[in-house]
Amino acid sequence: MTRISIAIDGPASSGKSTVAKIIANELNYIYTDTGAMYRAVTYLAIKHHIAFSDETELVDLINKNPISFEQMADGQHVFVAGQDVTSDIRQPDVTRAVSEVAAHSKVREALVAIQKKIGEDGGVVMDGRDIGTAVLPKAEVKIFLVASVSERAQRRHKENLEKNIPTDLEELTKEIQARDEYDSTRKVSPLKQAEDAIRIDTTGKTIQEVVQAIKEVIQQKGYFLD
Ligand code: CDP
Ligand code: CDP
Repeated sequence: MTRISIAIDGPASSGKSTVAKIIANELNYIYTDTGAMYRAVTYLAIKHHIAFSDETELVDLINKNPISFEQMADGQHVFVAGQDVTSDIRQPDVTRAVSEVAAHSKVREALVAIQKKIGEDGGVVMDGRDIGTAVLPKAEVKIFLVASVSERAQRRHKENLEKNIPTDLEELTKEIQARDEYDSTRKVSPLKQAEDAIRIDTTGKTIQEVVQAIKEVIQQKGYFLD
């Protein structure tokens, strides 16, 4: 059976990783969270006191600290140079700086090369901002998820409350808007819907409804799910 590539892009907190994980699990495909890779580099920059503007040093960090994913009982974990950074990369200081780090062309070149390699044989669900446009431009299925800013902020707020992370809805709304703006207007591979991507507005939709909508797109394109 053909093992296709599925690209899922969209703005912050539109539900990409949640639905990508479910679909990858159901299809027995690899799931790759490319945002986690940009976050890992940002985490390393903070740890090693590298300026977010220093492109050369940031690329050096990527070359010296291999990023890897490992499936564990409680989900996928992210490692840099063998250190489990799964929760560190979600901290607010990383979130605030990640878009600046991700805007450097050489940082993107280095991470996109790794992502292309992961996706080269298909059987992958990859989520991010530029998967359909730059990382896997030949992906058989491309999805662009959107949702209103207020719903996205509320989703993150709820998630933080559940995880006992201090949270402020107004702050989250501003942070999401600022990141969307930065990601959509950068020069290299900005957040943008690929011409051949299917747009799904997830406002008011449950996770299962979004998963179902994506499965329908996969089937409409003539690929079987089992
Ligand atoms: O999950 P959340 O929406 O908070 O963001 P993420 O997917 O973890 O991505 C964090 C940041 O990494 C984004 O705001 C982008 O600046 C950057 N990113 C990117 O530039 N390209 C990607 N393919 C994935 C993430
Ligand atoms: O990966 P991305 O930043 O696009 O979003 P996410 O981390 O998958 O989703 C952000 C939050 O929204 C999570 O807590 C999801 O459970 C929730 N969510 C939701 O409530 N309804 C959806 N249709 C999709 C996600």
